[in-house]
Parts: sequence; C-alpha cells; structure tokens
Amino acid sequence: MTRRFLVTAALPYSNGRLHVGHIAGAYLPADIYVRYLRATGAEVRFICGSDDNGVAALKTAREEGKPVEELTAFYNASQRRAFEGLNIRFDIYGGTHQPGFVEIHERFSQDFFRKIYDKGLFTKRTSKQLFDVQAQQFLPDRFVKGACPHCKSENAFGDQCEGCGRTLEQTALLNPISVLTGTKPELRETKHWYLRLDQLQGKLSQWLASKKDPASCGAHWRPVVINQSLGRIEAEGLPERAMTRDLTWGVPVPLDDPDAKGKSLYVWFDAPIGYVSFTAALLEQAVQRSQVGQLSELPRVRQVSDLPKPAGSSESCSTYADWWKNPACKVVHFIGEDNIVFHAITWPAMMLATHDSDSIQGAAGEYQLPHNVVANCFLNIKFPGKEEEKISKSRGTAVWIEDYLQSFAADPLRYYLTAIAPEAQRTAFEFDDFLARNNGELGNALGNFFNRCISFAHKYFEGKVPPAGDRDDADRAQLARCREAVEKVGAELEACRFKTALGEMMALARAGNLYFDQTKPFLSRKTDLAACARAINLCLQTARTLTTLMAPFLPESAEKAAKMLGLTDHKTWTAATCELPENQPLGEAKVLFPRLETEA
Ligand code: 2FM
Ligand code: ZN
Repeated sequence: MTRRFLVTAALPYSNGRLHVGHIAGAYLPADIYVRYLRATGAEVRFICGSDDNGVAALKTAREEGKPVEELTAFYNASQRRAFEGLNIRFDIYGGTHQPGFVEIHERFSQDFFRKIYDKGLFTKRTSKQLFDVQAQQFLPDRFVKGACPHCKSENAFGDQCEGCGRTLEQTALLNPISVLTGTKPELRETKHWYLRLDQLQGKLSQWLASKKDPASCGAHWRPVVINQSLGRIEAEGLPERAMTRDLTWGVPVPLDDPDAKGKSLYVWFDAPIGYVSFTAALLEQAVQRSQVGQLSELPRVRQVSDLPKPAGSSESCSTYADWWKNPACKVVHFIGEDNIVFHAITWPAMMLATHDSDSIQGAAGEYQLPHNVVANCFLNIKFPGKEEEKISKSRGTAVWIEDYLQSFAADPLRYYLTAIAPEAQRTAFEFDDFLARNNGELGNALGNFFNRCISFAHKYFEGKVPPAGDRDDADRAQLARCREAVEKVGAELEACRFKTALGEMMALARAGNLYFDQTKPFLSRKTDLAACARAINLCLQTARTLTTLMAPFLPESAEKAAKMLGLTDHKTWTAATCELPENQPLGEAKVLFPRLETEA
C-alpha cells in the first residue's frame, strides 16, 4: 500500500531573511526526508509558508518604517528565493497574511477557534495587562521589555526571556518598559479567551508517553522532544493559556461578543493552522488545475492568488481532510528547538480540543495528532580565533542564504549543514570547516570517485560500461557493501537521523575508492584487461548506487552524476542496486564538486 505523509517545516516569521541556522534547524532535514520518502514511492505533500501575523512583523515594520503588509510580502519573497536557491522544494509556500492565502487561512483559523469554543474548551477571563498610556494601546508581549523574574537577565520580553529561554507572562516582568514609547506602562483590565489545557493534560501526557518507544508507535521521536514536553507537563502541569490578543494585525477573533472587538487570535494559535490552510490552498489549486486539464505535475512553489475562492466555510475544501483527518496519513513536523513545546503540546492540544471522539490520536475524520515532531537544536557560529557564539542578526554574526548563493552552489551547503547537523546538541558553522569538508570529503571522496571511474571508462573502454566478467570474492563483497549501504541509509532516513545517513552514504564512497585502489585497474589494464574491466564495472555499479543514495542530500549533484552514468531514473530507492548493463554509454566525466577557495 502506498504510504502517505504530510510533511511540514516551521513557518518562518516574515520579518527577516533566512540564515544557515534556519536551514540547518528545520528546512533542510525536512527536504531530505521528503525527497527520500518520494524515492520510496510514498505520496507526500510538503508544506511551508511565512508566519506573518502577530507582533514580530509589527515590531520590525515599525523599526523599518514600512507598512506591515509590505514588510511581510518582502520577506516572504526573500524566503522563497532562498529556499529555491537551496533546492528546498515545497509543494506550496504560503503565508498566513499573504495575498491569495489570507482569506483561506482566516477561514480555517476562525473555524478552528469556533469549534473549540463550541466544545466549551475556552474560558473567557479578565486579566490585567500592560497598557501604554502615551500610545493608547495595550502592549503585546514583545512590546514590553524588562528583567526576567527567573534568571534576572535584563533581556526579557513579555512572552519569553532571551536569557534563559523560559516562557513568561508579561505581568511577571520586573521593571517593565514599553518598547513603543520607552515609558513605564500601567496595568489595565482586558478580556481574553484561554484554552483549557488543564482539561487536555491527561490525554496529552498519555499521547506523549506513547511516543517513547519506536517499536510501538512506529516513529523515532528524539528524546529532547519527549523530555522537554513531558518534563514541562510533569514539572508545571498545563495552565490555561490565552489564545487571543489585543492586536489588530492577525486573524480577528470570530465571536459575536463586544469583548472580542479589536482582538486577534494569538499568533501561535493561527500559525500551525497555516499548515492546514496552505494544504487546503494547494489541493484547491490542484482541483482547479485538473478541471482545466492543466494538472500534469506539481509546480515547485505555488501561489493561489490568481484562483477563485470557494464559497462557504473551510469544510468545503474537503480534500485537506484526506491528509489531516485520515489515520492512514502520517503528519510529520520539522522544527527548531524553540518550537518544541508549541508543536508537541499546544498544537496537539488544539487538535485534541476539536475532537468529538475519545481517541487519543484522533478517529477517522478528526485531526490526527503528529506522527513525529522532529526538532533540531540551534546552530551556533564560530569565527577563526573566537569562541563559538549564537547566530545573531543584530551582532552581524549570521550567514545569510541569499548572500551565500551569490558565491556558491546549493549542494556544498546542504552537505555541510547535514554533516554538522545539530540533531542532538548545538553545533557550529565554521566557514573554514565548510571549505575543508567540501574539498576534502565531497571533492576528494565522493566527487573524485565518480571522476576517476568515468574518466577511466572513457579512456580505456570507449566511454561504455565494461563487462562484469567472472566476479571474485572482492567483487562480491563490494556489491554486498552497496546493498548494505542502501539498507542502512534508508533505515537512518526513516528514523530521521540525517547526519548518520549521510555518513553511511559517504562510507560507501570511501569503500568505492578503496576498492579502486586495491583492484588497481590502472595496472591491470596493461596485464589483464578482463580484470581491469571487471573492476571498472564494479566501480560504476557502486557509483550507480551512490547516485540514488546521494539524491536526497545533494539533488543537483545527483542529477549530474546520473547524466554521467547514462541513468534515466536515478531517484527510485529500490532501483539503487539495479546494475548498469554492459555497454551502457556513459556521459562526459564532470567534476561534481569543484574546489572552493577563500577569497584572497
Ligand atoms: O519560531 C518561529 O519562527 C515561528 N514562526 C514558527 C511557527 S511554526 C508553526 F507553528 F507555524
Ligand atoms: Zn530568564
């Protein structure tokens, strides 16, 4: 049966450009996973887009002196270019407030909110909130600065402390100051709707605990995800959380209640619903394309702005349910470490809150809780002679993707960020290490292996695959290595261990070089041409396997490698060890990974 996956990557805030840390954190591993799943024949949709609502964009728009719509459109476009340039290929790149998406997103978000409201899982509460008298407005969390009540860092905002990372209530800040006017805000009463997380806590704990054992849940949850979320529940329980804000930039609260006036849904309420609304937009577009006979293949990145909108509620886009409410479809979220609690507690709680059944995972026709939430740690950066440090826009320590792409191809960075992937702990981007690994590992091991085999075949076997002849033990051992590599890389990718998977692929490249060195075709061509042909045949078979194995990680280079080997389909996983036939014409030998030098 065809496996079905809905894969998402965290929606980046559209108030900035993307840097290497973003890519290593969520987008690259998600893209590798999707490419691999597709190679195995799975049906996959890969969803992303910008997180436009809420205070982050408002704050930057204020700083850059632009209307917030213009700011988010600008960064949404910049993000698309960065992803395109790195060959991170979503089926749709939406935006929660972008033209063509904002209406459908609002509809889904408001339906979601109403469903939870109707189930009685919101409590309306009066709370005291900081009000800027000079600006005559309540202050969103990010618009209040102060000292953290826990670690006393001065770098704390009303939602989170940048020092210790803890989530905060703005009223807990010590010595609060309005970011808008620099004045001391005063406390005033306001009303908001709180999600009854306390009511959902039992089910959430049970669901999270069921993810500890891969054998029973069928997914490899990283310990950090389970420990952080279960640990949070065990340590603090789940208090009710406000899901509305005094803000007009966002999805309006869909209640006929005077207290809802001028209020929006909390950005962390509507953002994950973006995964669903963008899926609906994608499918809606597909239906419309097929109706006009245009649907041959999914384009790389889609916009729905030019398509007519369906009437009525979100439920009329019925096909999104085939992905989100279907127990046969596995939903996998890729995120950075700062998003763990939202994706492993709040978002599943929101979905649980819409359920009519008692099922923990969700019955057929109800939102299915994620199959896996794959989180990476942050990527730091290290400059020569300096200590490793956090990537920071304000300190100018970021490597921006659009800048990178001015000078380099996508694959060297895809390789490097996977080789140093911060899967279990923080790791650091070092430019010299990036160059060294490109030249030493990619160039000398993988690229050189292709180059030497194919050049040899051109020079001594008329550019064709030479005969395999009578294989000996060494040949059979090399073929077995190819088969084992396919299994190992596949198993590691299934378990979302991308760094190890890449290591296994590279181990096969090294084994190929070793086989070449040990069989010495450069000598046997003068003494025993049949042995020489046999060795080159096996090197080419190894290269063929490598081409399929490298494709999820290094898609552009795999395309080039496939051309060199004369392969028409290099992506199908099960065909990775299908042998190249004798006499197959080979393409021109190319340098797969040119040496990279530092600018003088
Ligand atoms: O941390 C962030 O960049 C958030 N914008 C991620 C949102 S992910 C999802 F919920 F949309
Ligand atoms: Zn703190």
